[in-house]
Amino acid sequence: MVIALVLLVLVVASVLFHLVTPWWTTPLASNWKQMDDTLTITLAITGLFFVVINLFVAYTVWRFRHRAGQRAAYEPENKRLERWLIGVTTLGIAGLLAPGLVVYADYVHPPADARLLEIVGQQWQWRFRLAGASGKLGGSDARFVSGSNPLGLDPADAAGQDNVIVLGNEVHLPIGHPVKVLLRSHDVLHDFFVPQFRARMNIVPGQVSSFWFTPTQPGRFESMCAQLCGVGHPDMRGYVVVEDDAAFQAWLKQQPTFAATQAAAAPAAAGTGTPAALGRSLAQTKGCVACHTVDGSPGVGPTWKGLFGKTETMVDGSTALVDEAYLKDFIRNPKARAVKGFAQVMPQIELTDEELAALVAYIRSNGKPS
Ligand code: CUA
Repeated sequence: MVIALVLLVLVVASVLFHLVTPWWTTPLASNWKQMDDTLTITLAITGLFFVVINLFVAYTVWRFRHRAGQRAAYEPENKRLERWLIGVTTLGIAGLLAPGLVVYADYVHPPADARLLEIVGQQWQWRFRLAGASGKLGGSDARFVSGSNPLGLDPADAAGQDNVIVLGNEVHLPIGHPVKVLLRSHDVLHDFFVPQFRARMNIVPGQVSSFWFTPTQPGRFESMCAQLCGVGHPDMRGYVVVEDDAAFQAWLKQQPTFAATQAAAAPAAAGTGTPAALGRSLAQTKGCVACHTVDGSPGVGPTWKGLFGKTETMVDGSTALVDEAYLKDFIRNPKARAVKGFAQVMPQIELTDEELAALVAYIRSNGKPS
């Protein structure tokens, strides 16, 4: 009797919780209403089965409770009941699977006019590349990856020269235009996910996965990594800014093409570039920019804007002047000190002495505190 009541309370409480829960999904900001519909169908079917099965068990626990002198009836087979159960279960399972088949087929077949966006996952940051005027993305290969070519684009591929390389972890997209997303990984399994777009896809090392979507709402949406990919996984965040076409075109013009990044890197490769320029390129390739901004906005680690010359306070209350020696020590041994207000999550990064000096020069170039 008690068990039957517990089951009854469980069912009523679950349904009530579903109705009054504050945990709803974020407002939809893409064309993928079908994703929400599929989830709703799944919830309706599993919810209905949950309610019916639990109420049935509660009823049988109460109806066939132990009573003195009463014996259970033996019924080895009930063909009619079996047919009903098989039929209802089949309908339920088909209802769960069929919408997914249809929606997934749509999800991986982009419209012909979709703009190409490449997203490359790397522990623990996002990189973006957009097709240029030709509308094509050039080929890439791991063997081309270098400090000045972090995406590993084929320098000999004409189709890649006008590709737009996005510096930093924020990409812009025009509202209302379909985008075909191509995903590559630099190292391990990642997953690009923007909850508002209802769009996500695993990024498997060694292959290019893809999906498409059309952003339908303006705004700045946070993208996250949805596969556990190492200690920096929770910090692997980026942004997708959806704006009108004019603002998008203006932003696009500020981003360098692949050819421009190669031309700019040539003096550095020849040893004639400034250390700060090499440091800037290192900050990109070594992934520093995932946690350290240069515009003063907050990140996982301290912003580099105005960092040099500042006095930092440690967790133990002591203070230290941020100078060349402090930065070099800190980068070489990130776990030796704990700066107040920041988690001790900085990984140790392999750098030559020359690279370390260049990186510090770049941090220094971001200015003294005002
Ligand atoms: Cu990348 Cu988690």
